[in-house]
Amino acid sequence: MKRCIKSEYNIGIINLQVNNGAMSLLSPRLLKVLLLLVLAFIILQYSYTTIFEARRIDPLFIVNSSLLARNQFFFMKNRSNYAINKNSVSWTSDGAQMTNALLVDATASQNLASQQTYSSNELCPLIPPNLLGPIKPEKDAPATLEELEHELEAIGALPPSDGQWRPSYCKARDRVAIIIPYRDRAHHLNIFLKNIHPFLQRQQIDYGIFVIEQAGYGMFNRAMLMNVGFVEALKFREFDCFIFHDVDLLPEDDRNLYTCPDQPRHMSVAVDSMKYRLPYSDLFGGVSAMTKSQFELVNGFSNMYWGWGGEDDDMAARLKSVGLHISRYPNNIARYTMLSHRKEKANPKRFEILYSGRKRIKEDGLNSLQYRRLSLIRNRSLTWVLVELAVPS
Ligand code: BGC
Ligand code: MN
Repeated sequence: MKRCIKSEYNIGIINLQVNNGAMSLLSPRLLKVLLLLVLAFIILQYSYTTIFEARRIDPLFIVNSSLLARNQFFFMKNRSNYAINKNSVSWTSDGAQMTNALLVDATASQNLASQQTYSSNELCPLIPPNLLGPIKPEKDAPATLEELEHELEAIGALPPSDGQWRPSYCKARDRVAIIIPYRDRAHHLNIFLKNIHPFLQRQQIDYGIFVIEQAGYGMFNRAMLMNVGFVEALKFREFDCFIFHDVDLLPEDDRNLYTCPDQPRHMSVAVDSMKYRLPYSDLFGGVSAMTKSQFELVNGFSNMYWGWGGEDDDMAARLKSVGLHISRYPNNIARYTMLSHRKEKANPKRFEILYSGRKRIKEDGLNSLQYRRLSLIRNRSLTWVLVELAVPS
């Protein structure tokens, strides 16, 4: 007589009891296959959310989509040479494939459309009507600034002077200084400018681009350059919002509005080189936005971070210490492409400086900033400030 052997399998919370008749069916091999299937399912689901999250339709899209449709109609009727092919502006499915030609048309048409719709002393609409949603950044640009400015001019996106532009057909809601700490990245800068001008103009922002270059070959001090940018930009005019921007980051979605909300905003939430994931919740590097008063409240950035890393974490701690908190757009909107470059050598002292950072807020920052302006170049696509930073003794 066959003995009936009962076997138990413990798989997590599932407890299987089978007799030896079913043993052959639930052999260890079969269990392995089952586990592999579950694993494959989890991986599939994960890739689905990462790949398709960016394409999700959100309310802003729907609002914009109807506004854009209206403008497209306007153009097809009035300026056939500027007409946008409605089918190619399919945000949810083809957004990321948007071509440059389309961007050019859209920029030109936006200027025309908006002139017809608003009067110059009326506030621009809360949601800019000509946004494209997801866009594919251009990763190529001419080698010289002169050529680049020709290109921008050809698409009607070259500012009249100093890298400063504002919509002429409505009153912009924000006056934004874009501050770019810089050294030795000429090609990246041209690519950045090529992308950012049409982008900000579609957002109907009153803005200025300030490139702050550190002279010499000493250790780079990103934070100090941003402090300099803040001071120098305010010599031009009363900006109320400051966006500190790495030159190698290109926004992938123009719903990521370059404005300053009530709380400081970390803009570069999802960067391709970081697999579109935020590495930690206090990250404030890459691209970040603060109002003039928020920046002054924390005495700007610390001037003590020479070499890569830490200065943004220090700012995050400063913001926290005055009761502000970091806000963010969702990561299907706040997406960026990073241009490739050599990895910088991290400052080994950054944790130490960071640790004692809080104690220094009042005396280390805007009020202790020392630099010498070596030159000021005012081009149509940017204002360029070359500075020598004072190294503490
Ligand atoms: C550095 C930050 C940097 C972050 C992400 C941190 O270790 O301190 O400055 O932004 O890594 O790369
Ligand atoms: Mn980088």
